[in-house]
Amino acid sequence: MTAVADFPLAWCRAQFPALSRTVAGQPVAFFDGPGGSQVPQRVIDAVGFYLGHTNANRGGQYATARESDELLEAAHVTVAQFVGSSHAESVVFGANMTTLTFAVSRAISRTWQSGDEIVVTRLDHDGNVSPWVLAARDAGVTVQYVNFDPADCTLNMSDLASKLNARTRLVAVGGASNIVGTINPVREVCRLSHAVGAQVFLDAVHYAPHALPAVDEWDCDWLACSAYKFFGPHVGVLWGRPELLTAVTPYKLRPVTESLPGRWMTGTQNFEGIAGTKAAVDYLADLGSHCGSRTGGLRDKLRTAYTAIADYEQQLAKQLISGLLDIPGITTFGLTDLNRLNERTPTVSFVHSRLPAIEVAGRLGNQGLFVGHGNFYALQFSEALGLEPQGVVRVGLMHYNTAGEIERLLTAIRGI
Ligand SMILES: Cc1ncc(COP(=O)(O)O)c(C=O)c1O
Repeated sequence: MTAVADFPLAWCRAQFPALSRTVAGQPVAFFDGPGGSQVPQRVIDAVGFYLGHTNANRGGQYATARESDELLEAAHVTVAQFVGSSHAESVVFGANMTTLTFAVSRAISRTWQSGDEIVVTRLDHDGNVSPWVLAARDAGVTVQYVNFDPADCTLNMSDLASKLNARTRLVAVGGASNIVGTINPVREVCRLSHAVGAQVFLDAVHYAPHALPAVDEWDCDWLACSAYKFFGPHVGVLWGRPELLTAVTPYKLRPVTESLPGRWMTGTQNFEGIAGTKAAVDYLADLGSHCGSRTGGLRDKLRTAYTAIADYEQQLAKQLISGLLDIPGITTFGLTDLNRLNERTPTVSFVHSRLPAIEVAGRLGNQGLFVGHGNFYALQFSEALGLEPQGVVRVGLMHYNTAGEIERLLTAIRGI
């Protein structure tokens, strides 16, 4: 594993122009990555270049249209490798994870019948709950909710196992929780679900900035993520097993192709955003090169990059969690065992004994410490722990954050 001392932090930070922002004379520390990460200059350049030089609709017999076609094809190849698939046509671009998940849930649920069941979890973002619950309601299908352990906010796997049976058609689960960072054992979820014949829809939105998706290894059926969480622009990504993308009938316009991936891509795409999405994956691969992976393909470089990211982020998480645990009046949620940091992302939520989350976030924000507050659409979680309506303060670390920024944050929280 790459040693933290080897992590090319200065190189990474130099890629992100936003990191030079100041507020009230202080450098901004961006702890809001789970709401949307900052983007490297090459992503901004790719978006601008597309609009400035290649802007066209697809299929035309002229240079800019051909270049748009080539860009889209290259982006499908790159993003397929990013999610861990060798099938470029299995990647679908769209507006965002929520919109893509509604499209899939509407399409799949047409094959469900009364008496069928689906499974969602109380640890998930509502983007992977409501699309399924609403589809189940329309199809007359029963919804089972899997609980989490309130002590460490890990998914209760025996509860999951107890809710699977021969009637289960689909299991919707997150790769990682966007409110407490818990990484779910997705391979095991897939194994258990497939054993009863259910499909697995994975929400990798919070997972993807911290760990490399691996659809083939996990053996999942569907996966959705969002480029704006992994250093790209506001674009949604859906991956599906090619045979399912072919077998399931999407709602689509008549002239649209029946072939993959076109049949799932609704309307004119955000071409400039897709150019930026490709550039975001290229940035991550370049980070892999800077971590020692100079030879090998894109996927090898991504693996190296994410190993280094995880190693570095675990050090940051250790500093943040141990610091928060030492501050009187702060209650921290999720896995706080410093020996289990590989089971979580560095997304840490807490409440203050006296002040509501919005007040804490406001005071920190005024000092250039950008943290989130609320439930972050992890509504089942926040209701289960009685955290509504205030929610929590969320500190979301990314690999561009520094130990110095965390020290500043801890000092500021102590001062509240
Ligand atoms: C875990 C998770 N799932 C889903 C979503 C929804 O993603 P999108 O904004 O792309 O619809 C988010 C957004 O914060 C998220 O964090």
